[in-house]
Amino acid sequence: MSSSSMRERRAWKLLHDHATTMVAAHLRDLFATDPTRGTRLRAEGAGWYLDFSKNRVNDETLSLLMALARESGLIERRDEMFRGERVNTSEDRAALHVALRMPVNDTLVVEGRDVVAEVHAVLARMTNFANAVRSGAWRGHTGRPIKNVVNVGIGGSDLGPVMAYEALRAYSGRDLTFRFVSNVDATDLVEALRDLDAAETLFIVASKTFTTHETLTNALSARSWLLAQLGDERAVARHFVAVSTNVRAVEAFGIDPAQMFGFWDWVGGRYSMDSAIGLSTMLAIGPENFNELLAGFHALDQHFLQAPLEENLPVLMGMLAVWNREFLNLPTVGVMPYDQYLKRLPAYLQQLTMESNGKHVSREGVALDYPTGAIYWGEPGTNAQHSFYQLLHQGSTIVPVDLIAFARPLNPLGAHHDFLSANVVAQARALAFGTTEAEVRAEGTPEHVVAHRVMEGNRPTNVLVGEQLTPRALGALVALYEHSVFTQGVIWGIDSFDQWGVELGKELAARIYPAIADEAVPLLDFDSSTNALIARFRERRDQGATRDD
Ligand code: F6P
Repeated sequence: MSSSSMRERRAWKLLHDHATTMVAAHLRDLFATDPTRGTRLRAEGAGWYLDFSKNRVNDETLSLLMALARESGLIERRDEMFRGERVNTSEDRAALHVALRMPVNDTLVVEGRDVVAEVHAVLARMTNFANAVRSGAWRGHTGRPIKNVVNVGIGGSDLGPVMAYEALRAYSGRDLTFRFVSNVDATDLVEALRDLDAAETLFIVASKTFTTHETLTNALSARSWLLAQLGDERAVARHFVAVSTNVRAVEAFGIDPAQMFGFWDWVGGRYSMDSAIGLSTMLAIGPENFNELLAGFHALDQHFLQAPLEENLPVLMGMLAVWNREFLNLPTVGVMPYDQYLKRLPAYLQQLTMESNGKHVSREGVALDYPTGAIYWGEPGTNAQHSFYQLLHQGSTIVPVDLIAFARPLNPLGAHHDFLSANVVAQARALAFGTTEAEVRAEGTPEHVVAHRVMEGNRPTNVLVGEQLTPRALGALVALYEHSVFTQGVIWGIDSFDQWGVELGKELAARIYPAIADEAVPLLDFDSSTNALIARFRERRDQGATRDD
């Protein structure tokens, strides 16, 4: 296994030379010279079909990418991760999210503990609790059943839960209302609670560390809101539960550890939606559907472990992402789900991809001389087509796009779904092939419009097609991106499981806060711009009318 810098590897050098010819290749020609391309460059696994034929690659590219994967030690690193070794080197811990979805009869002993048994013990507690809330057996302080569930968390303790709730809304108990509060901006909490009755509301305070400022601030305000309505400290016990790894902090907050659902330091925040952080998901869709979600994750894990690299969905997607980023110099990736239920998937994937692979040093802490994680962004199609696709088709920045769709709708209605599917297929074709000047002229286009209508094409896409949006399909899809991110991180030689880059902003906010909030605190001695901004907020915070005046 190689720990050398990516650009020193033999396969990288071969790819580098090969790329000098491929940058000039056009997808039109690649398809014209190989009529079987569309049926060859595709792969299937865990219920997902991937058409990667519209990437700017040929057979040699793919074989060199697989050589780079092997030379970079992808197989060994994957196996280390699945064994529970401390692959998160800078934090000296495992990244064992794959254990969260291992079946109950499996065993995985890591450092003397069977983690699968521990996972299932928590799942059993979550199941009992979810059943009690969903059946109405769990009563609020005044004896009324729970009607509203508010998840308070941020980052991985919010994005997974809210994405999964939206994605699986069709499977959710419609008699329960779900809200997700993350932003320390009070508007988030105030608007989430304004029409709720505290007597029927359950708060899930979700925080791996239970030290996150935004979450604790929101949780404290939620507690005050509850007590203002119910007027009795004892109400907290029936209306607050916690999901965390930090039992002491949960207790200090005032939540009984008996009402805490735990997980482990080897679950990264952005890899936690299938841990107890998914409690809101289980409350929404019920334990059986939650088990299906886990089964989907597990199926894709098995595919990642067992499929040959050449047919392995996350390996293919990960290596194509490396190709686009490193060799075609394309800095962003668009993710466009053609399913309204997946509207929060791009936001979820932003944390997964960018917090994982937005790194500037190797696992050994050596500065990298090549770019790493791409910028991920996106919106659901078809809305995005009427917004920013103009730039995708004719802009000067080429954006590789993942188009995600399902063969069957959850809400069959007239011709909607066939039209939606037609749009996915059309966009992939338009991005790849564009329209030539000759084609535009042949349509009788007035001469002064010809240049405007020409579309260069050659824009890479991956088209992912699932059967139907089920909990199982969602689990497999998320695991596919998790392992694609891992694959990219291995090639780049980075630690995909730490997030040191978010720390400085947190520390500075903690230092600046007192200077803004309290006139008695001397202005801090930062740079002149920071000092002036602090002074501006401090001077103006108490001036002018507020909404309550
Ligand atoms: O600030 C980044 C981060 O640490 C994420 O990695 C994490 O998902 C989020 O904050 C929330 O952390 P916690 O669950 O500990 O509140």
